[in-house]
Amino acid sequence: MKNQLSSKRVAVLGAGKIGGILLQAFVREKLFSPRQIAATVRHSERARAVKRQFNVLVSTDNKSAVRRADIVLVCVKPQAVAEVLEEIREDVSPNKLVISVAASVPTAFIEQRLPEGTPVVRAMPNTPCAIGCGMTGLCRGSHAKPHHLEVARALFETVGRTVVVDEKHMDAVTGLSASGPAFMYIILESLAEAGVKVGLPRDIATLLAAQTAHGAAQLVIQTGEHPALLKDAVTTPAGCTIDGILELEEGKLRVTLIKAVVKSTQRARELLFEK
Ligand SMILES: NC(=O)c1ccc[n+]([C@@H]2O[C@H](COP(=O)([O-])OP(=O)(O)OC[C@H]3O[C@@H](n4cnc5c(N)ncnc54)[C@H](OP(=O)(O)O)[C@@H]3O)[C@@H](O)[C@H]2O)c1
Repeated sequence: MKNQLSSKRVAVLGAGKIGGILLQAFVREKLFSPRQIAATVRHSERARAVKRQFNVLVSTDNKSAVRRADIVLVCVKPQAVAEVLEEIREDVSPNKLVISVAASVPTAFIEQRLPEGTPVVRAMPNTPCAIGCGMTGLCRGSHAKPHHLEVARALFETVGRTVVVDEKHMDAVTGLSASGPAFMYIILESLAEAGVKVGLPRDIATLLAAQTAHGAAQLVIQTGEHPALLKDAVTTPAGCTIDGILELEEGKLRVTLIKAVVKSTQRARELLFEK
């Protein structure tokens, strides 16, 4: 895929948090050279700052960035997507791939605002993308072909792992893996507090909690084992862990986490319709 992309140009519309993380990763992972990338932001002073930071072409001119691009990444807030699509419509054609990271914006919404036949891929990354440990859900719109998804995969694999899902699951991806880091930080913060409560210095308690979460997650990923089996392996009969698990069950940790993801998924469906 790297070879196929070596002659392509990419426009990153909205080089904010996620857009900035992506364009930095494209250069770091040598997927694109800086001269293959054009980025845009809304404010010109911010354009100068982003240019200094990433050493790529940055402007406030979406049309000109799109005109010269083969791949267009839409990284603006959901409420700004319609305005940006309206602006670039004339400069998009079906031989360009449009990829949107905007939460809650369906591919059909994007397709309706672009020339007939334009391939559109929707992506939902998360903040650990900043250190290459991200999780991105991808789905394709009605004109995108499998090779368009492969291009999107290559782009988002510069910042972590990817999964391809049907579009009907994209709000659920938002509720689980895009909001998920915030849920995990609350769990980590609580475990660190617990460490302090039982006498550990805060920095050691935080490291113990974070590395334990990292190790447990890696075991799930690397062994492919069901989390319940891995939990059983820690839980010796009449040992310490089962007493802790009883407290978690009494405190309804499981049902609380399930409800958090359900609410977050529901909220993801609403964002587009708010100003
Ligand atoms: N942050 C996350 O964890 C995350 C995860 C998954 C998906 N997303 C999605 O990513 C998108 C961006 O989120 P973010 O957190 O990266 O937001 P952000 O940091 O606010 O970045 C948005 C960027 O868009 C620029 N912008 C606004 N209007 C524009 C326009 N008309 N033309 C060109 N650029 C414009 C802004 O420019 P200025 O800097 O000049 O204002 C800013 O740089 C959202 O749709 C969000 O749903 C975010």
